Amino acid sequence: MGDMSKMEVKTSLLDNMIGVGDMVLLEPLTEKSFIENLRKRFNHNEIYTYIGSVVISINPYRSLPIYTPDKVEEYRNRNFYELSPHIYALADEAYRSLRDQDKDQCILITGESGAGKTEASKLVMSYVAAVCGKGAEVNQVKEQLLQSNPVLEAFGNAKTVRNDNSSRFGKYMDIEFDFKGDPLGGVISNYLLEKSRVVKQPRGERNFHIFYQLLSGASEDMLKKLKLERDFSKYNYLSLDSATVTGVDDASCFRTVKNAMQIVGFMDDETQSVLELVGAVLKLGNIEFKPESRVNEVDESRVKDKNELKEICELLGIDQSVLERAFSFRTVEAKQEKVSTTLNVAQAYYARDALAKNLYSRLFTWLVNRINESIKAQTKKRKKVMGVLDIYGFEIFESGENSFEQFIINYCNEKLQQIFIELTLKEEQEEYIREGIEWTHIEYFNNSVICDLIENNTNGIMAMLDEECLRPGTVTDSTFLEKLNQICADHQHFESRMSKSSKFLNDHSLPHNCFRIQHYAGKVLYHVDGFVDKNNDLLYRDLSQAMWKANHSLIKSLFPDGNPAKINLKRPPTAGSQFKASVATLMKNLQTKNPNYIRCIKPNDQKASHIFTDSLVCHQVRYLGLMENVRVRRAGYAFRQPYEACLERYKMLCKQTWPHWRGQARDGVEVLLKDLQIPAEEYSYGRSKIFIRNPRTLFSLEEQRKRRLHGLATLIQKIFRGWKARTHFLLMKSSQVTVAAWYRRYAQQKKYKKTKSSAVIVQSFIRGWKARKILRELKYQKRCKEAVTTIGAYWHGTQARRELRCLKEEARNRRAVTVIWASWQGTKARRELKRLKEEARCKHAVDVIWAYWLGLKVRREYRKFFRAHAGKRIYEFTIQRIIQKYFLELKNKMPSMSPCDKTWPARPYLFLDSTHKELRRIFHLWTCKKYRGQFTDQKKAIYKEKLEASEIFKDKKALYPSSVGQPFQGDYLEINKNPRYQKLNSLVEEKIIFADIVNKINRANGKGAQRIFLLTKNKFMLADQKSGHQVKSIVPLAELTSVSMSAQSDGFFALRVKEGTTAAAKGDFLLNSERIIEIITKLHRAGLDLTKEKIQIEITDEFLVQFKQDKVCVKFIQSNPKNGTMASCKRKNNRLLEVTVPSP
Ligand SMILES: Nc1ncnc2c1ncn2[C@@H]1O[C@H](COP(=O)(O)OP(=O)(O)O)[C@@H](O)[C@H]1O
Ligand SMILES: [Mg+2]
Repeated sequence: MGDMSKMEVKTSLLDNMIGVGDMVLLEPLTEKSFIENLRKRFNHNEIYTYIGSVVISINPYRSLPIYTPDKVEEYRNRNFYELSPHIYALADEAYRSLRDQDKDQCILITGESGAGKTEASKLVMSYVAAVCGKGAEVNQVKEQLLQSNPVLEAFGNAKTVRNDNSSRFGKYMDIEFDFKGDPLGGVISNYLLEKSRVVKQPRGERNFHIFYQLLSGASEDMLKKLKLERDFSKYNYLSLDSATVTGVDDASCFRTVKNAMQIVGFMDDETQSVLELVGAVLKLGNIEFKPESRVNEVDESRVKDKNELKEICELLGIDQSVLERAFSFRTVEAKQEKVSTTLNVAQAYYARDALAKNLYSRLFTWLVNRINESIKAQTKKRKKVMGVLDIYGFEIFESGENSFEQFIINYCNEKLQQIFIELTLKEEQEEYIREGIEWTHIEYFNNSVICDLIENNTNGIMAMLDEECLRPGTVTDSTFLEKLNQICADHQHFESRMSKSSKFLNDHSLPHNCFRIQHYAGKVLYHVDGFVDKNNDLLYRDLSQAMWKANHSLIKSLFPDGNPAKINLKRPPTAGSQFKASVATLMKNLQTKNPNYIRCIKPNDQKASHIFTDSLVCHQVRYLGLMENVRVRRAGYAFRQPYEACLERYKMLCKQTWPHWRGQARDGVEVLLKDLQIPAEEYSYGRSKIFIRNPRTLFSLEEQRKRRLHGLATLIQKIFRGWKARTHFLLMKSSQVTVAAWYRRYAQQKKYKKTKSSAVIVQSFIRGWKARKILRELKYQKRCKEAVTTIGAYWHGTQARRELRCLKEEARNRRAVTVIWASWQGTKARRELKRLKEEARCKHAVDVIWAYWLGLKVRREYRKFFRAHAGKRIYEFTIQRIIQKYFLELKNKMPSMSPCDKTWPARPYLFLDSTHKELRRIFHLWTCKKYRGQFTDQKKAIYKEKLEASEIFKDKKALYPSSVGQPFQGDYLEINKNPRYQKLNSLVEEKIIFADIVNKINRANGKGAQRIFLLTKNKFMLADQKSGHQVKSIVPLAELTSVSMSAQSDGFFALRVKEGTTAAAKGDFLLNSERIIEIITKLHRAGLDLTKEKIQIEITDEFLVQFKQDKVCVKFIQSNPKNGTMASCKRKNNRLLEVTVPSP
């Protein structure tokens, strides 16, 4: 990699050169060869060519791919002559010498209109912007600097015949950098805006871009605000024949400009003010005047259509009458005197145009200042400066229409040429001195005589013109020419028909109203028409005062001279003297800087790519003084190169220096040149560079080098091939050795392994045999040892058993003795015990007999003291006392009076057992009697009824237990009290035993209907519940045969009627009531009372019921409670009614 980059450094301008890249090397140097070289390069898209460090640029009129970021990188930090000529090389050189050597730079771009100056200046700026520092702040500065261009171009550029985007002002821009080379800001100076364009444009040209951009690009709203119309043809100041430029979209340009203004830092209201002024200028052109005769025969002009005037005044905030008066009168003030004269129509138009031009040019100057304010460097620290000058080059109109402007421009170019020559020579000379080369005088044309002709303060053309302008009395352009003819006639560069020298008297190419100057670049014929006027640049004071009075801050600030308080009776400086002063400042400025030149050339007049018009180029080459330039450059030595670079490039041409020179580069070059036998006068040794006088020498060196390079290439190839073959062979050889070695090793290894394994097998056999032999021996020994042990063991065993037997015998004998002894002892003991028992019984018998005897004796003794039967009486007394005590205790321990209380005190004596039980029974009966005694007859009847119910239902019907606690009320409906049942009550004569609502089951579907059930002592009745009195059936109790019901907890029951009775016609009744227990009990009771016969009560889960003709079976089944907690009845078929009872 390191080598690669080193090789890159060695590239040179001389490589792959088309034509010659540096005109200094042109051989032979003639105008023809010069142009031929340019053409050749141009045809190969090489638009840049050097003259030493000057860059000639030919406008390609199409975009070339040579401005890419890659190119920027390529040229960055490279030496000037290393790569093919490019504007970037110049920009890089300038930037680096600014940054690294701290030299302020200026880049002077000259050339005629359309030659590519403005483009070149932009390329330089963009290159510098690309290579200089980065960062947010720096980028903003860069952006502002770059964006100042579109703004200035919109206001200062116009389409001309030569250039669609021609700058109509000179521009010099200082870009300021800090010590690191980062941009800080800039200052722009503008020179001589071509303001006459505002009011009039030559054929095929346009006014300044901004007018068209505004009209095309502004919104309807904005146009309305500015009182403008979109149509270009509405404005006199806009020429119509080229209103639009092909390939340019004015509307989008307008947006770009507005955006650029914003970026540069214009406030919205500032932009608005600027556009108002532009609009006002446009509208000024539409004001027209008409003559109006006055008494003293003088034509006075009047504004024709006041509408436009009115609108302008509204737009700019000017009092209409003031402006109107300013267009009609002119006030001249001289020494406290004020004279007011009327203006005629022509003067009025002149005044109008002067106003428009002044407005516009002052606006332009204001814009430049405003931009400067924005891009001004924000630091007071020392800055390095790079100036870029883009000013129109020499202008020569062949038609001879050269006027004041051309004169001024050419003067400026003359000055630039002067400092160019000065600086180039200076630089050249400095280099010679630096390098210690003898300086030989160079013959060249010094144009200072021409500059003097123009700018000399006493008798220069400009001074003369000023004098004429200030002179009282009638002054015209011809008086000016006359004066010139007098004063300058002798000057060798001035030509005039009327000059005193007779040589031009018959020169018909020189008209009478013209003069001609021999500029360094050629002769130029100037028409004197308009010189005086243009130099005067007069704006009537009335107009500037009118402007100053405007209620518009921008306009007011543009016309400070209109302020009556600061009235200045002295004439303002003339245009010429102003320009001269600013050129002088510029020159002074440039002289302090290191110059870099870009000379732009236009290849054709058609703005076409690929066309190279020799005559046109020739003309430019001449007036740019390029030949002069080359001559100056090679006056001494055409080519110079540092020793190192020279040696590096040509060292292959000499044996001593090839391939390496070990010593000073200078000595190497010396050896080399001597070896090549180059004549000594052809070169000279500087301190660090070799100077070559003639390009021919260089090219012969180049030629030899090329040839030698071919030879070297073959040599290198040869050596390389040999080296490659040998390397290959060596590689093969060493590979073979390696392979053989590896194979041998492998074979030996294999053989060795085989031998080794055989040895191991033999060895193992022998070892095995040996081992077995030893084993056998060992086994025999072991067996012998074991036999001994076994025999020993047997012998010991026999001995031990024998011993044991002896011991056992002994033990058995000892035990027999013990047993015998023990039984003997036992016998002895039992015998003793028997004896002792006998003895004790005898003793007891003696005691008892003794006691009896004593008793008998006592009883015999005391019998005589007692009466007969006393014992019986004592006994009875004792018994009585015990019974007494028993009753008293019983009285205290009596249980409660409740018949349910079953408690009774415990029995104290066994003989009182029967008494105790009897007493308990009596007590119980007594408490029961007492309890019964509390009952009334009514209560008795209720209990009787309850008793009866119990007899009938207890343990038979599941519903019964729940009815025990409920008292039987009988009349639940309170028939004789409730007024609802009054009528029903009156139908029943007897006493009502029972009355309640029951459900009568419908035979058809098993559903129930509510009925009033009434029971008296000899019948029961069913009445309609709804009406409360309609009796449905009456059944005498005598006709009731039986009652049927289930054993479940339901309330269904059937009442059967004796067959053949009236009641039987309807059939049996199937009813449902919660109070079934009470109803049946009462029915039973009433039936018994009436007939002394019991009504049959059937409790079964399945019974038959007679309905009219047919019998229906009623069946009770138990089911889950999900059917409800109530029993329900359903007709299953015409023989079966099913009652579902919830299972308990
Ligand atoms: N280097 C270039 N590459 C491509 N086109 C160019 C180049 N220089 C100039 N031009 C073309 O030529 C036209 C005129 O160039 P410009 O710089 O405005 O001329 P000048 O400023 O000298 O009057 C440009 O609008 C552009 O179309
Ligand atoms: Mg330009």
